[in-house]
Amino acid sequence: MKRKLLMALSLVATQLASAATIQSPNGNIEVKFSVDDKGRPTYEMAYKGRPVVLPSHLGLELARDKHASMGYNEHDLIDGFRIVDEKTSTFDETWKPVWGESATIRNHYVEYVATLSQHWEEKIKPSRPDVEGMKTVAHERTVLLRFRVYDDGMGFRYEFPQQRELNYFLISDERSEFRMAGDHTAWWLPGDYDTQEQVTQQTRLSEIRGRMRDAVNWGNSSVAPFSPTGVQTSLQMKSQDGLYINIHEAACADYATMHLELVDEQTKALTTKLEGGSNDYTPNPKPSRWPLPQPFTFVSHLTPDATGLKGAMQTPCQTPWRTVMVSDDARDMLASDLILNLNEPCALDDTSWIHPTKYCGVWWEMIVGKSSWSYTDEFPSIKLDQIDWTKVKPNGRHAANNEKVKRYIDFAAKNGLDEVLVEGWNVGWEDWANMWKRDVFDFVTPYPDFDIKMLNDYAHSKGVKLLMHHETSSSTQNYERHLEEAFQLMNKYGYDAVKTGYVGDIIPRGDHHYSQSMNNHYLHVVKEAAKHHIMVNAHEATRPTGLCRTYPNMVGNESARGTEYEAFGGSRPDHTCILPFTRLQGGPMDYTPGIFVTKLKEWSDNPSWARITLAGSLALYLTMYSPLQMAADLPENYEKYDDAFQFIRDVACDWDKSVYLEAEPADYITVARKAKGTDNWFVGGKCDENGHEAIVKLDFLDKGRKYDCTIYADAKDAHYDTNPQAYTITRKVVKAGQTLKLKEAPGGGFAISLMAQ
Ligand code: NOJ
Ligand code: CA
Repeated sequence: MKRKLLMALSLVATQLASAATIQSPNGNIEVKFSVDDKGRPTYEMAYKGRPVVLPSHLGLELARDKHASMGYNEHDLIDGFRIVDEKTSTFDETWKPVWGESATIRNHYVEYVATLSQHWEEKIKPSRPDVEGMKTVAHERTVLLRFRVYDDGMGFRYEFPQQRELNYFLISDERSEFRMAGDHTAWWLPGDYDTQEQVTQQTRLSEIRGRMRDAVNWGNSSVAPFSPTGVQTSLQMKSQDGLYINIHEAACADYATMHLELVDEQTKALTTKLEGGSNDYTPNPKPSRWPLPQPFTFVSHLTPDATGLKGAMQTPCQTPWRTVMVSDDARDMLASDLILNLNEPCALDDTSWIHPTKYCGVWWEMIVGKSSWSYTDEFPSIKLDQIDWTKVKPNGRHAANNEKVKRYIDFAAKNGLDEVLVEGWNVGWEDWANMWKRDVFDFVTPYPDFDIKMLNDYAHSKGVKLLMHHETSSSTQNYERHLEEAFQLMNKYGYDAVKTGYVGDIIPRGDHHYSQSMNNHYLHVVKEAAKHHIMVNAHEATRPTGLCRTYPNMVGNESARGTEYEAFGGSRPDHTCILPFTRLQGGPMDYTPGIFVTKLKEWSDNPSWARITLAGSLALYLTMYSPLQMAADLPENYEKYDDAFQFIRDVACDWDKSVYLEAEPADYITVARKAKGTDNWFVGGKCDENGHEAIVKLDFLDKGRKYDCTIYADAKDAHYDTNPQAYTITRKVVKAGQTLKLKEAPGGGFAISLMAQ
């Protein structure tokens, strides 16, 4: 009897120890965690009682490899787990970002940590020849799963304490599953190891496979899709009953970028074959040893390096956070601080040198094709150490020349812009792209017509700085070799910001843009730059995961299809109504907005055009949050529309407060923001090809105060194709409680400044 009772008690204890329910502070979100009968960690998530993630497994497949401490006896971190300890706690703090959408951010969550013990036994042949038969060896290792549950979503990560049985290990893939509760609508990019410069697709989950081949941007300079159902994060979805769900990651450091592979009705196995593009040199993944999950389950898929492996780990270490955001109101997706909150606090002692920046640049005319980055057309290729640049014949199209740069500096000074980006200032552009050339740039030698000292002195005398450009052509070893002297040169001449670039396939050859080693490279550059008080804006680097909280000198990234594509055939009018839901979740984008003359053939031979109205271009300074904002068009194009350019002169790029007033993915976004340290507000609205009527209730203004309001709106007959430059500017005095109704044209938008009296 006593034994039976004991057994019953221990059964209850085991059951209790293997299931937990965690509720967010306001109770809207509930996460359950348990281990199943095979010892597989399992979680599920609900929002206001509605399923968001159905029971899904967590784990990692490890490589049997000579470089792992367990060598060829390595064991997957998939099953055989039991919960040996659980801790739940609440955290609530408010912190101040160095720059951002608001002056303070509340970080309020309920945390649950499960300590899991994995046990397995292995039969090995004893090494002593005199002992016969097999010997059984028992293994035990510890992994922690940490969940943080917020009112607008949750994050979890794996943590690996240092221990003899888990020391060095290699990840062949992470198996974090996200089983969706239905055939949601998704806004997705094809999963790709090298590029995000793709057009967002809007389909049901079940339609991803059918759309994949056409969705891939095969023309990109580095493109490596991995699966007919592989998509990128941040992935925005909407369920048929109106739940907005977003899957992404936070704090991706010393780890590969995560994609998601959807298991659908036709999936026979997770990716086993890589096809096309820059994948040609990457070993095909090994088939998974574990059963397939149910259809509508996303399975994490990490970016491999040149070996095909996904991660080389040394304990103690942890994975990035895997995040699921959810709400029944699309505005909450944009207002969420979950990704930033899951990152570590600022690692820099002194941040006084980091500042929001508005800039123009010697850039758009090269992108459009009117002028060139290169200085000469004389040679089929160049070797940097074998050319006397004073003797070569100039091609006459080199844009980064003293005269032109001075013209841009004058324009910036006149219009209150902080900096001027100059691309093509340094030698090497003659054969910079796609040749897998190691010594492509030295980052310190200017072309003969770019007087680096004179131009910086000239800029400084006018209160402007030059913004440095380092295109690496993805030759990352070359960049790392030159980094210190390149940053010293910047310090010498007074540059405090650099735009870096990673066009083309990576050197070391075979590696990918989003691998663990490349993610380490990008962060290395940011950390080294901080030592020199330099802000970094990396193009073609991995998609951001909120690391800008920890390293706020990471002021921008591209990592999506930016304005440059308006010169390469154009992007859809709804593109900028999707990006804030997807790409911008992890951090600001250097989208380079502000194209006023949208039909490029008006000033060049380029037939491409931007699918946006002029008023819509102004709206992007609000709807696409970034502390770094470019006025990308040519000075002469702005001079034609100087009354509209007033908005770009006035608009802030750092904020005390942001209020999302209206939002629907791919349709419209309306946001009001209060400029940092002032009483002034700015409002922007952007819509898709269908137009939109925005209702802006001025509830956010100070009660009883009057504001000088200037409205830059689409004219009645404006249209992104037929009449993009039709806009009106209206001035009036407004106060809190009033409502403004604004009609946005197809592909249009509006921008409002509200200056406190
Ligand atoms: C691609 C970047 O996105 C673009 O802004 C830059 O001008 C070129 N690379 C050249 O570096
Ligand atoms: Ca780019």
